[in-house]
Amino acid sequence: MSYLTDAARAPYRANEDAVAPTNPTLEEIVAANPNRRTILRGAMMLSAAPMLGALTACGTDDDNGAGQTPTTPTPPTTPALSYEVSFTAVPESMANSVVVPTGYVAEPLLSAGEPVEKGAVAYSGSFQSSTQTEGQAGGNHDGMHYFEIQGVDPNAGGLLVINHEYPDFAILMSGSYNATTATAEQKKLALSAVGVSVVEIAKGSDGKWTVRQDSNYNKRYTGNSQYRMAGPASGITGQTVIGTLNNCANGWTPWGTYLTCEETTDNYLDPTQPDTGYGWVVEIDPYAELPMPTKRTAMGRFDHENVAYLEDSNRRTAFYMGDDSTPGCIYKFVPNRPYNATNRAANFDLLDYGTLYVARFNANGSGDWLELTVGKNGLTTAASDPGNYTQSTTPPAPTAVSFATQADVLLNTKAAARVAGGTLMDRPEWISVGPDKKIVVTLTNNSSRAVTDAANPRIQNRHGHIIRFQEAGDSPLATTFTWEMLVLAGDPELATAQGNLVGNITGDTYSSPDGIDIDPKGRLWIQTDHSVPGSSGVTGKSIDQVFGYNAMFYMDQASGQTKRFLVGPEGCEITGLTYTPDLTTFFINIQHPTREWPSASLPARSTTIAVRRTDGKPVGA
Ligand code: FEO
Ligand code: CA
Ligand code: CA
Repeated sequence: MSYLTDAARAPYRANEDAVAPTNPTLEEIVAANPNRRTILRGAMMLSAAPMLGALTACGTDDDNGAGQTPTTPTPPTTPALSYEVSFTAVPESMANSVVVPTGYVAEPLLSAGEPVEKGAVAYSGSFQSSTQTEGQAGGNHDGMHYFEIQGVDPNAGGLLVINHEYPDFAILMSGSYNATTATAEQKKLALSAVGVSVVEIAKGSDGKWTVRQDSNYNKRYTGNSQYRMAGPASGITGQTVIGTLNNCANGWTPWGTYLTCEETTDNYLDPTQPDTGYGWVVEIDPYAELPMPTKRTAMGRFDHENVAYLEDSNRRTAFYMGDDSTPGCIYKFVPNRPYNATNRAANFDLLDYGTLYVARFNANGSGDWLELTVGKNGLTTAASDPGNYTQSTTPPAPTAVSFATQADVLLNTKAAARVAGGTLMDRPEWISVGPDKKIVVTLTNNSSRAVTDAANPRIQNRHGHIIRFQEAGDSPLATTFTWEMLVLAGDPELATAQGNLVGNITGDTYSSPDGIDIDPKGRLWIQTDHSVPGSSGVTGKSIDQVFGYNAMFYMDQASGQTKRFLVGPEGCEITGLTYTPDLTTFFINIQHPTREWPSASLPARSTTIAVRRTDGKPVGA
């Protein structure tokens, strides 16, 4: 959650759990169309680059790889690269710029209002119509993923798929947006600026990345687009819904689709839409081979942050997800069959059939996955929801809740998780699965926590923590796991106030870890989102004065040593991380900057940047 979206949706939160579903009907699963091209490359790529789709379905241009007969690409001739982390840490900063280590450049690639779809015009300082903005990059860039294009050197070109969590309103309309009084055109404008952008990008001979404006892959999925509903709750939600929004973090699948995560269970930009249509994981095929974007109700409805998967040697998978609520639980969804590695279309409904679990973190370092299936773990018609008992020393009165069908469980997942005994965590943000199959999750903060447990050990947790866990037998199908506290965030400068503000970071300190990613070389990157303005916890010291502007860090998982890699401009949070397979370019999002950036002559705009070494070596070296 960014502080912007948190504020915008606040008036609509009161009834977020008050869904009263009727009896569902299981959706008829649409059979995959065997006539579509469904070739998969036969070998797994780096864990960051899932299996590729063949790219023949959507393209007609003859100069961008689309529309051509798929061929096995010639592996690029890559010299031996070192992935040892040796960059010189940058100091904390309060400059209105992106600060990177010596020898690196950080170049804007796609800002809010810039063209995505063919023929779209760029924002240049004047307000536009929703017809124009619908084809442009939305605002508040968040999670993203880089996909390879068959036949293209993946280290020099590919598809970048970017989430837009919230509009950059300053470039859309004058004044503030009020959803209850907005005109139809204002609503369309706001909803045009959320969702997902798909852009083809390419690296020039000078090393600089640009968007290929002529690519047929370039596409926007917005709050005005139509989405298909699938899975057990689709009998209640209806078979289609208008709009996706609060597209926060993301995931991807081994069969080359993108997962955009809705971090809201209400449409605060257009409250006339039924709540049941929002709060889902949405699967999008960036190659546009598979059917229309689909909301996967089997994965549960809550304030989804991201999705990260673990797979075994039999192609069975688990998809890990956090609920960025104060507090929220951690979940996994286990599809009930392996994915098909040779036929993309056969995976078309894989995320509709499976088992949803919630995590319970035990005090002894063990953990249990509690099944969220109607009839199990207390999920009955006479269930009792204990509420968010961590937020007050006086527990709330339990409320009666009825789970008559699996659709009831999926529409009211937060309550189901509490009933089943899931651990209420300090706002789970991103989750990442490392090449060693260990899993990390950020718990960004929970300044109102009043009751602690082993996995959330600090009351008034202003600065957050990171947990690492491991499935029994490294199996995605496991029902137990082990966990450990990786780090407590904070700063020794704050010791005079409360001990719980200090943390135990070794090296450069930070508050509110949000984005987290273990890259294919096992290197851990952390991105922060301390609210601006935010409280450090000590009177007279702003959070920026203690930590600098939001930043990105490298943490050595063996030594715990932490180094600041990048600092963003004023007011922004740092989020989203994806990269080329050789890790020589990192793509990072600068979300909601507040002072003119990246252009001094236009309002501040959320922007994807490309970060690379000028000598072409891997990022981190
Ligand atoms: Fe959109 Fe939880 O960050
Ligand atoms: Ca956040
Ligand atoms: Ca986030």
